[in-house]
Amino acid sequence: MQKVSQLYEGKAKKVWVTEDPELLIVDYKDDATAGNGAKKGTIHDKGIINNRVTNHLMKLLEKEGVPTHLVEEISDRETIVKKVTIVPLEVIVRNIAAGSLAKRLGLEEGTPLHKTVLEYCYKDDALGDPMVNEYHIMAMEWCTKEELDLIAKYALKVNEVLSAYLKDLNIELIDFKLEFGKLSDGTIVLADEISPDTCRFWDSVTKEKLDKDRFRRDMGGEEDAYKEVMKRLLGE
Ligand code: TMP
Repeated sequence: MQKVSQLYEGKAKKVWVTEDPELLIVDYKDDATAGNGAKKGTIHDKGIINNRVTNHLMKLLEKEGVPTHLVEEISDRETIVKKVTIVPLEVIVRNIAAGSLAKRLGLEEGTPLHKTVLEYCYKDDALGDPMVNEYHIMAMEWCTKEELDLIAKYALKVNEVLSAYLKDLNIELIDFKLEFGKLSDGTIVLADEISPDTCRFWDSVTKEKLDKDRFRRDMGGEEDAYKEVMKRLLGE
């Protein structure tokens, strides 16, 4: 499979068209941004780690009945994926209060939530990805009610599968962000990535942050944290 032309360059990935109209190649970069692009930097080898971690977790999710866009990893940084039309939502799942939820509700980070929280944000950088609810999504026709119900069901399943899997690796899944897309036949699949860029991972014992919060909050040690996640998940 060859790259034909660049379709798109995002903050963390480039996407290439291939000879097959149904397939794309995703190319993960080391570039890191935070605060909607306000902070820019690089995290050495992040692209390699996010490519490999995402594919590892998507394979696990496929086995557990969550359809994904994954086709085949072709190099350290590149993966063939099915072409989708992205549903313009960031689907956020939370188990423990952190980040913007902790701020919004005045909770101390690390406060357990009595029930899993599902949030939707409208994917629009110019608007700062505002939070929306089911009514906004229906009113704007970003997807149908049936599609949203399926997206919510898949998001909660991802949470169940990944929380249990990561627990055995001494990683607590605090929260994460997913994106879903539609194949040309209308099937909803999990797309984008699942990585330390898009999840909060805390060491179960020390509560040390093993994710992009280290970069967002200028804590340092982000390269080692990403490497540690890859080591625990892939053994290398
Ligand atoms: P938040 O607490 O900042 O709202 O983030 C919740 C989770 O979603 C956290 O794991 C980081 C992830 N996330 C992204 O992957 N991309 C984003 O643009 C935002 C805002 C959050």
